[in-house]
Amino acid sequence: MKSKTVFSEKLRADILQLKAMYPIAQSALIPALHRVQEEKGHLEPNSMLEVAQLLGIPPIEVMKTGTFYTMFHHKPVGKYRVQVCVNLTCSMLGGRHLLSHLEEKLGIKDGETTSDGLFTLIGVQCLGACHEAPVVQINNDYHSLVSEKKLDTLLSSLRSGAKR
Ligand code: FES
Repeated sequence: MKSKTVFSEKLRADILQLKAMYPIAQSALIPALHRVQEEKGHLEPNSMLEVAQLLGIPPIEVMKTGTFYTMFHHKPVGKYRVQVCVNLTCSMLGGRHLLSHLEEKLGIKDGETTSDGLFTLIGVQCLGACHEAPVVQINNDYHSLVSEKKLDTLLSSLRSGAKR
């Protein structure tokens, strides 16, 4: 019996292509989850089950990986995912203040999305660029040595870019 799919044909084909690129199917897991998130916006349990079926690996392995990393989302998120590092080095250099500043500026708490669907705010642990602390990642772009002023400028330009 054919199992029910929640993916498009293109998405299924892309995942099978990723699987073929690696000697071990498990190695394609993170790229496959990224590809799913790119198309569907976030990872739902059904999506993770379908990734497991396509890669031929146990669903629990997909769930463990898909829920471990903060880069994967499990509910709808804003157009811009603003991840603020609040780990030790960044916190000592103002990371937690940046998070509070954004909470106030955007009118949302850590983990929430603005009502216009533009921004999701996420406090995260170490973005791996401690030497440039404090660090903020917006979607795939890193911003280092961030100040409140720099953040305000970034938010304004993202807002005006979104209106175009
Ligand atoms: Fe912030 Fe490592 S502690 S990037």
